[in-house]
Amino acid sequence: MSSFSFDRDNSLYKNRDALLEEYTPNNLVGRDDELEEYHAALQPIINGEAPSNIFLYGKSGVGKTAATRFLLNRLQEDAAKYDDISLSVIEINCDGLNSSYQVAVRLVNTLRDPADQISNTGYPQAQVYSFLWDELDKVGGTVIVVLDEVDHINDNSILYQIPRARSNGYLEHAKIGLIGISNDLSYRDSLSAKVRSSLCEKEVSFPPYDANELQKVLSQREEVAFHDGALAEDVIPLCAAYGAQDAGDARQALDLLLEAGDLARKDAEQVTDEHVQEARQKLERDRIMEGVADLTQHARLILYALTSLEAEGATPARSRDIRPRYEQLCKHIGTEALTSRRMRDHLADLAMLGVISSTEKNEGMSGGKYRKHSLKQDLQLVVSALEETIELAGVHDSIRPYYQSDAEESA
Ligand SMILES: Nc1ncnc2c1ncn2[C@@H]1O[C@H](COP(=O)(O)OP(=O)(O)O)[C@@H](O)[C@H]1O
Ligand SMILES: [Mg+2]
Repeated sequence: MSSFSFDRDNSLYKNRDALLEEYTPNNLVGRDDELEEYHAALQPIINGEAPSNIFLYGKSGVGKTAATRFLLNRLQEDAAKYDDISLSVIEINCDGLNSSYQVAVRLVNTLRDPADQISNTGYPQAQVYSFLWDELDKVGGTVIVVLDEVDHINDNSILYQIPRARSNGYLEHAKIGLIGISNDLSYRDSLSAKVRSSLCEKEVSFPPYDANELQKVLSQREEVAFHDGALAEDVIPLCAAYGAQDAGDARQALDLLLEAGDLARKDAEQVTDEHVQEARQKLERDRIMEGVADLTQHARLILYALTSLEAEGATPARSRDIRPRYEQLCKHIGTEALTSRRMRDHLADLAMLGVISSTEKNEGMSGGKYRKHSLKQDLQLVVSALEETIELAGVHDSIRPYYQSDAEESA
């Protein structure tokens, strides 16, 4: 390129931003049953009755936050038509807030004037709650408090306090409806019976999306994001099929479409199946690279040990076969190997990450139950993800063909 001028390359995208996380669609598709249930749980509010507390749960990317915003917007619009209803909504995300105390502080500050904020330390918990009741009573009427990603909070105090504030006499003017949203499916069971009965008055579960539903989500977004004819016919069905196969996560499916669009934009006139395949590989690769980078050193050494066995064709391997190799690597870097039990925990985590696959064998009376492990990802990819660990612990002969250090590359 001789001149560095900038030309617009918007022949494929009409509005690329519509594929990003921040974009909120006007309408939700493919969630009819869940929306109906959720709608019914919110119905008392428009009747002027005491709001129910609602608990929403499902894995990430299944539309919990989107459905909440969508229905609460509608509810606010419709409530505005009635003179005898005053409805307010406060939504906060609990990611990054790890105690009820911090959540209460955040709620107080959301309700208060910017000039009148309280700090995250320095008040007894009871004082912060008392500030909260004061603020809520000032708002008055029906107040819906949404605690999104509520599973990040380590204690349940606020989930108990908010639903009971009125019956405990702390609130006079405000009727509170609490909506708790969790991405963690086991969270509900971890709640005490007392908290569960107040928070989970109404429950709505959001299952993963199937391919059909994902197609609807993606087609809706295609219309806003892409020009007519920018996508080859099979692109949406393919992204939807992969999305359903992976986790039924709409965010992941939208990310795949976005990545495919970005790849196509470089040199093609249309987004095709090949772009989707390539995008999928790239995203999977990024995910594995990031996942491995986030592992502890011992988890990486265990993965390295298994990788070297894989390169020798010695997989699937039992953990007792992986162990000597792992111990050898530990010795190289002068660290003590973890116990066999901890090692098996790490193998289970690696399987969760999707970098190895583990299958259970059952040899009945004689051999008992055990697991066999092998790499689930491309050997070359895992070796590159482990590059730093390999540099540290030394290059095992078996992986030499897959490993090129910077020094060897330039030699
Ligand atoms: N039914 C749907 N229709 C349109 N877009 C959706 C739908 N469900 C999810 N999305 C989009 O997918 C992404 C993830 O949804 P989100 O509501 O944040 O999931 P969750 O809160 O369950 O993790 C968001 O960008 C959202 O706009
Ligand atoms: Mg969410």
